[in-house]
Amino acid sequence: MIYRMIYPLVLNFVMSCVAFFVALKLINGMKPLFARARLCGKDLNKKDSKELIPESLGVVTGAVYLISMFLFIPIPFLTIWIEKGDYDFPHHEFVMFIAGLLSICCMIFLGFADDVLDLKWRDKLLLPTMASLPLLMVYFVNIGITTVIVPKPVRFIFGFDLDLGVLYYVYMGMLAVFCTNAINILSGINGVEAGQSLIIAISILIFNIIELQGTCCWQAHLFSAYFMMPFIATCAALLYYNWYPSEVFVGDTFCYFAGMAFAVVGILGHFSKTMLLFFIPQVINFVYSTPQLFRFIPCPRHRLPKFHPETGKLGMSYATFKMSDLHPLGKLILSVFSLLRLVQVETGVGEDKKFARVNNFTLINFVIKLLGPVHERTLTTIMLLIQVGGTAIAFIIRYHLVRFFYDV
Ligand code: UD1
Ligand code: MG
Repeated sequence: MIYRMIYPLVLNFVMSCVAFFVALKLINGMKPLFARARLCGKDLNKKDSKELIPESLGVVTGAVYLISMFLFIPIPFLTIWIEKGDYDFPHHEFVMFIAGLLSICCMIFLGFADDVLDLKWRDKLLLPTMASLPLLMVYFVNIGITTVIVPKPVRFIFGFDLDLGVLYYVYMGMLAVFCTNAINILSGINGVEAGQSLIIAISILIFNIIELQGTCCWQAHLFSAYFMMPFIATCAALLYYNWYPSEVFVGDTFCYFAGMAFAVVGILGHFSKTMLLFFIPQVINFVYSTPQLFRFIPCPRHRLPKFHPETGKLGMSYATFKMSDLHPLGKLILSVFSLLRLVQVETGVGEDKKFARVNNFTLINFVIKLLGPVHERTLTTIMLLIQVGGTAIAFIIRYHLVRFFYDV
């Protein structure tokens, strides 16, 4: 077991280090190509936002990641083939590996299409669903477990375990949609998309390393570690250029790529619940965003914080509307959120004082609401510290609080 584990892991680590430097070099070298292809965007939070920043560099990260994984394939599998031949070859593990890569590859392709064509929100939900189909098919054929152990407090209703059947596949498909979009909407300040993905990936890797020492399921965690190490390396290279002040933007390509990589390891590694625990800030941001995502409150094209050139700091950004135009449910949400001090509502704004405004419902704006205007770099650092705090809570839940819900 040690031989099967240590030797490929060390080589995967070495290849990841190489991938880090290759990605660094390629991202820097390819910036002008993206600018020439007009794949660039304004940095909305800078004084001089005329200069265009190359965008969608996540596709370079994704390509380096895929190439490293392709080069890695023979290491765990060819040695077993030479040793054991067709007789004892772990075909199911091999298929899972290839299907995982296929889903990630599809997602990078579809994400890049989104960046180039600027697709509608409807498509943003459809694309990850389509890209997760190979994954679900392999899960069906190879693993096929759709039974979940019911948490202790509700066992008197559902019993010890519950077979979710087809609903389990719906859940897994939605997981891919959630992971990809949740990263994409916790965004808009330099370094935050790549930074949060890096912390989630490191958290997953730490979890895998802890679980590798156990006797059960170590293969699943080994599989996940193979996928996470090159991801961490290439994501770190992207963060280097995306950190404040950004020289490149990651694009939706990267958000999709990262989300799908996490969905792949969570689903095929059979630890999707723990994986979701590492998404605590993204879940909070998503739930907080729902009134705007479902259009009960107007949702501007950009919800990123607003730059104040006088101070050089970022303040909250707002959605402005006429109270009378608001959906009744929107009015109710506004009152409840305002009562709970989750949002700041101002009435009587605009030239004729007929408009109202509310801060955009994002976690980033909420942090500014609590702390007051902050510099962009400080804000990204705070967001990443929140992510690290989320990971700490996730580990406490996974290894301590879990006793209250399951027999461990
Ligand atoms: C999502 C968010 C949107 C947010 C945008 C910023 C939702 C529903 N959508 O939209 O509110 O404004 O991401 O990423 O929450 N940009 C910066 N600085 C950065 C990163 C991006 O100014 O650090 C700007 C650039 O102009 C860049 C653009 O955002 O071109 C990229 O936006 P895009 O990824 O296309 O937006 P969405 O993912 O559709
Ligand atoms: Mg985006």
